Amino acid sequence: MTATPQEATGQARSGLLNIQGVSKHFGGVKAVDDCSLSIAAGTITAIIGPNGAGKSTLMNLIGGLYRPDSGRILFDSADVTALPPHLRARRGLMRTFQISRELAQLTVLENVLLAGQGGRIETPFAAFLIPRKVEREERRLARRAKELLERVGLFRLADMPAAGLSGGQKKLLELARALMLEPKLILLDEPAAGVSPPMVRELARTIRELRDEGITIGLIEHDMELVAELADRVEVLAEGRNLTSGTFHEVTRDSRVVEAYLGGVA
Ligand SMILES: Nc1ncnc2c1ncn2[C@@H]1O[C@H](COP(=O)(O)OP(=O)(O)O)[C@@H](O)[C@H]1O
Ligand SMILES: [Mg+2]
Repeated sequence: MTATPQEATGQARSGLLNIQGVSKHFGGVKAVDDCSLSIAAGTITAIIGPNGAGKSTLMNLIGGLYRPDSGRILFDSADVTALPPHLRARRGLMRTFQISRELAQLTVLENVLLAGQGGRIETPFAAFLIPRKVEREERRLARRAKELLERVGLFRLADMPAAGLSGGQKKLLELARALMLEPKLILLDEPAAGVSPPMVRELARTIRELRDEGITIGLIEHDMELVAELADRVEVLAEGRNLTSGTFHEVTRDSRVVEAYLGGVA
């Protein structure tokens, strides 16, 4: 069950993202307990498990919102365990964020443009010293923002306040925002939650296209149809620990997985 040191090293080489023996406790609750997994470059890897399995906590550990009590997180051959979220994002490890109330007041285009900040030019001094470079950078960002809105099918809504979008359209906007910084890996926490069935199809198509373009996807999702359709590989968590992994077909035929889900329901 437990990986030998050799296996752990082998894993570290195989994945774009490698979680090695990570734990996170909240008081007495072991939300994530000695969890290890890798996400191979160019794949969609789903992380599933019953309620309370530790999926969201793991997501926050990967994104950098939480620091693990123990264990390491390697991304693109670098140890990012101690890096704050924005520095992980700059390395290409990106998670989506719900459109906040403040952002909802802005237009769809403004939302995407804002996500592009924190890129190359960051201080007011830079803007003062190199106005031409800033202008060029702003034009580039504006072009990219519009391309991304085309990409996720929201271009015709560019000037609408984000608050007016449907649940599914908001998820597409979150994706476009995440794409602004040209990530290598995007983490999605339940993208289909609260989204109408036709928009789930649209989201699924977009996620698959991104994977085909070479972006690696980590997907936490309850909707098993979506997981079946999208996931190249599935990691199952239960009570903060690795239960098993494999293809969707393999893990859903594993009696331990069935039991864990039934236990979660009870
Ligand atoms: N910030 C927190 N403070 C205290 N307990 C937490 C916190 N976040 C999660 N937990 C607990 O950790 C466990 C795992 O939660 P979570 O990661 O949200 O699971 P999942 O996303 O798989 O449903 C649960 O028992 C939950 O109550
Ligand atoms: Mg959760």
